[in-house]
Amino acid sequence: MPPTIDLIDQYKYFFQSSVDGFLVLDENGVIQDANPKACSIFEQPFAFFLQTSIQDVSHEDFKDHLKKIDTCLKSKKDLETEEIKVNINNETSFFELKGGWLKLQQNDQFLITLRDITKAELVEREFKKIYTAVIQSPVSVVITDTKGKIEYVNPKFSELTGYSLEEAMGKNPRILKSGKQDSTIYQQLWDTITQKQVWKGEFHNLKKNGESYWESASVSAIVDEKGEVTHYLAVKEDITKQKELEDALRENMEKLSDFNLNLESKIQEEIERNKAKDLLIAQQTRYAQMGEILNMIAHQWKQPLNAISATATEISLLSGFKDLPVEVIQDRMKFIEKQTQYMSDIIHDFMDFFRPDKEKQEFRFKETFENVKNIGSYFLKQQNTTLSFDFDENLSLRGFKKELEQVLINLISNSCAAFETKRGLDSHIRIKAEEKSDAIILSVIDNAGGIPKKIIGKIFEPYYTTKPKDKGTGIGLYMSKQIIEKSFGGKIEVESEGETTRFDITLPK
Ligand SMILES: Nc1ncnc2c1ncn2[C@@H]1O[C@H](COP(=O)(O)OP(=O)(O)OP(=O)(O)O)[C@@H](O)[C@H]1O
Ligand SMILES: [Mg+2]
Repeated sequence: MPPTIDLIDQYKYFFQSSVDGFLVLDENGVIQDANPKACSIFEQPFAFFLQTSIQDVSHEDFKDHLKKIDTCLKSKKDLETEEIKVNINNETSFFELKGGWLKLQQNDQFLITLRDITKAELVEREFKKIYTAVIQSPVSVVITDTKGKIEYVNPKFSELTGYSLEEAMGKNPRILKSGKQDSTIYQQLWDTITQKQVWKGEFHNLKKNGESYWESASVSAIVDEKGEVTHYLAVKEDITKQKELEDALRENMEKLSDFNLNLESKIQEEIERNKAKDLLIAQQTRYAQMGEILNMIAHQWKQPLNAISATATEISLLSGFKDLPVEVIQDRMKFIEKQTQYMSDIIHDFMDFFRPDKEKQEFRFKETFENVKNIGSYFLKQQNTTLSFDFDENLSLRGFKKELEQVLINLISNSCAAFETKRGLDSHIRIKAEEKSDAIILSVIDNAGGIPKKIIGKIFEPYYTTKPKDKGTGIGLYMSKQIIEKSFGGKIEVESEGETTRFDITLPK
């Protein structure tokens, strides 16, 4: 029975107002009808569709589907449901596309239905995103029902605990309990989450293989739209390594504080011990210095002592002569006096040399050279050696006069000693003083045979001597170098060629 007018009107109304889009085609694919939703999906007016072939509806998003529709039209088959993404008004929508044959009139008709599934699709996509995040999460995720029965665990949970999803499902998370934590912590946890609040804390748990581990957990309720708790969610991070580090740190801190307690007394002990050591070193240094002073004094006394003893012998020989003029004795006595004065000066000089706050004084070279000549006269005479000076009579310097005299005496005494082995030469020593812009250069030159190349590098070393034991100690040049460098801030150098030896002393002004 054909439908009544009323019923046709009702279908028409349903067709027009449906939220699904409808296109009615004839067997050849020519569009017979389209409802407003279909027009809005294709963004075309109703007039555009009428009597147009579906294949002429050029729409980029439908390209592939139109081909399939064409196949269905030719083969008289239905079009299976498929999803289609359409861009409408610059917004992406998703539709379910379906096609089926209608046998309502004499000619068969093909009805295309387009159902908007955008909302569902977006929800599914969002769900997929979150699900992937949970699956790939580096922290454990556990979801239980309201009674605490596990419904879901993520792969990280399985990896950490050794329980697979299948093994964990239906069990209570207490399977992980190590039993080493106070039970109140679990009570607090339940109290917090049943009140829909987030519980945060640490669990000491056991893996399936019995190995223990620590995790930091955050547990909360999942509620539905009505605010009813449907599930509980636990997100947990493995902090075993962190705990181990903390333990090690705590242990070390304890050791450190123990150590600190002892440290103070140890430092005190060490200070006491060092004080005693310093005292000993200071004493030893003092003894060493005293020894050095004595050595130096003895060295410098050698020449005047020899001279005094020789003069004393001379006096006693002369005293045998009658009518000996008293001036001769007086002359010898003056000489002895000079020598003893020099010996006494030497003692003072060396005491000063080791005292850092000794005072400098201005002195004239003329005076220095005269003294040197007087003191050295005895051994110069012995070696039949002449001593000459070449200098400006006004030349002067600020410094330690006596010390410079001692250096010069050392140098000429060395020359005289060299002459002793080279007797018969025209023995001569020349002392030259030359003023430069910033220094005075003193040179002591002799022709006593020179210094062999192989020993010249060693002569300033302490105790280096080529003389027999009773004749030389080897400290003359060492001592002279010390005086020039430390008391005058200068330098002493030697060069020797052929028969000649030359010592150059630089005295900064
Ligand atoms: N003018 C010189 N000519 C040749 N040799 C020299 C001369 N001056 C120094 N020497 C060499 O240098 C060495 C070291 O001299 P130094 O004055 O330090 O000690 P010493 O004269 O041997 O002993 P002393 O402690 O009695 O002075 C001498 O033994 C000598 O071989
Ligand atoms: Mg010497």
